[in-house]
Amino acid sequence: MPVPPSRPHPTSTAPPRFPAGFLWGAATSAYQVEGATAEDGRTASIWDTFCRTPGKVFQGHTGEVAVDHYHRFREDVRLMAGLGLTAYRFSVSWPRVQPTGHGPAVQQGLDFYRRLTDELLSAGITPVATLYHWDLPQELESAGGWPERTTAERFAEYAGLVGEALGDRIGHWTTLNEPWCSAFLGYGSGVHAPGRTDPVAALRAAHHLNLGHGLAVTALRGVLPADAQLSVSLNLHALRPLTPSADDRDAVRRIDAVGNRVFLGPMLEGAYPEDLLADTAHLTDWSFVRAGDEKEIHQPVDWLGVNYYTPTVVSATPEGTAPARADGHGGGTASPWPGADRVGFHPAPGERTAMDWAVDPSGLYELLTGLARRYPDLPLVVTENGAAYQDEVGEDGTVHDPERAAYLHAHLAAIHRATADGADVRGYFAWSLLDNFEWAYGYAKRFGLVHVDYPTQTRTPKTSAHWYARVARTGELRPPAEG
Ligand code: FCB
Repeated sequence: MPVPPSRPHPTSTAPPRFPAGFLWGAATSAYQVEGATAEDGRTASIWDTFCRTPGKVFQGHTGEVAVDHYHRFREDVRLMAGLGLTAYRFSVSWPRVQPTGHGPAVQQGLDFYRRLTDELLSAGITPVATLYHWDLPQELESAGGWPERTTAERFAEYAGLVGEALGDRIGHWTTLNEPWCSAFLGYGSGVHAPGRTDPVAALRAAHHLNLGHGLAVTALRGVLPADAQLSVSLNLHALRPLTPSADDRDAVRRIDAVGNRVFLGPMLEGAYPEDLLADTAHLTDWSFVRAGDEKEIHQPVDWLGVNYYTPTVVSATPEGTAPARADGHGGGTASPWPGADRVGFHPAPGERTAMDWAVDPSGLYELLTGLARRYPDLPLVVTENGAAYQDEVGEDGTVHDPERAAYLHAHLAAIHRATADGADVRGYFAWSLLDNFEWAYGYAKRFGLVHVDYPTQTRTPKTSAHWYARVARTGELRPPAEG
């Protein structure tokens, strides 16, 4: 009897499919998009000050106007709806809501986020609010900033004010965005605001950001409905040793400690890693960590936000070699890696984006599956992922960015693989919805799904946005068309 031909497995040719309810989003942050820096009671943040300091930001660019999202948010929500997005991750500007970092909230500031949120909800888009995306009120920096404990307490108070005012509309909250950048680029290498270069201040800042997170989670739980989802977004470093040697693997351990576990340890396990304390013992005795702090930081979160762009390759280099840099944010001569002066950083192989970052989705797969192994009950959300390219508006008015679509496709495929291998990933936020103010690079780097012509503020969805819209609408990951 002839053997019937075996039928192909039904999923073998089907495109990868994401579950219903998976959040399909795009992200922005207040200082990068809002503009209106002196309107309705907003005062200066550390980024306003930094931008005014000569030589800190590319060509003296500032966020004063940015992409005018403060005034154009309705148009921007319409754009999101047109792209089939089901979620929008934005940040609340602390100096807009509580300008001095003390006292009651400014109603006009809160009202902006009320209007934005209402617009999102009526378009069927889930708002995901980040409370701190790097714009510390200048007044708090002048009083010492994140290296001081009081800033953590101030942050918790501000979080409570915002939660109380907007908790009826916003169900998803993130305390901090990338505290590594706030601490180590802001106070270590100085390439971000406030531009200090003091390794001990950077470690103190990391602790007070951790503490601020824990205190803010507690404050938010006190004012938000019981089903509110609380999280934090970390830019975890996907690390590779340059060679398999024991020394290079030890360099990975060191950077993992001061890049990743400095936050994961206290936030998710209730303690700073012993090896981090040992690696930095020549700098500080960590006496700024008071009894009970680690417990305070270790609050249950409902999901962990993972921001990923590119992997980091490290080696052990001989003592005395100047630290090379691979923090993904360029510039500066001071190190953002306290206690890791002998570690060398190397370009990761692969195609490069306009940031000179290597395209390597396997780093995202490794992070997600590694987190799933270590924290099996913790849902994950990719809260940032994306790429800058030299986008231009073509003669026909379109912006053709096949590299970005390919980048997003490859990273979504990696997420899908990670999900199949046990990671509980609940959503994806492309960075960014719009081209915007890319920190020290000013407007020179375009990360948007939507192109912005800065002089006219004209928005044009790029071809990658149209491709992403199809994925968001169908939940099916089909490759972008060639070319
Ligand atoms: C992340 C930041 C975000 C943007 C992207 C490119 O580190 O959170 O604001 O700058 O990088």
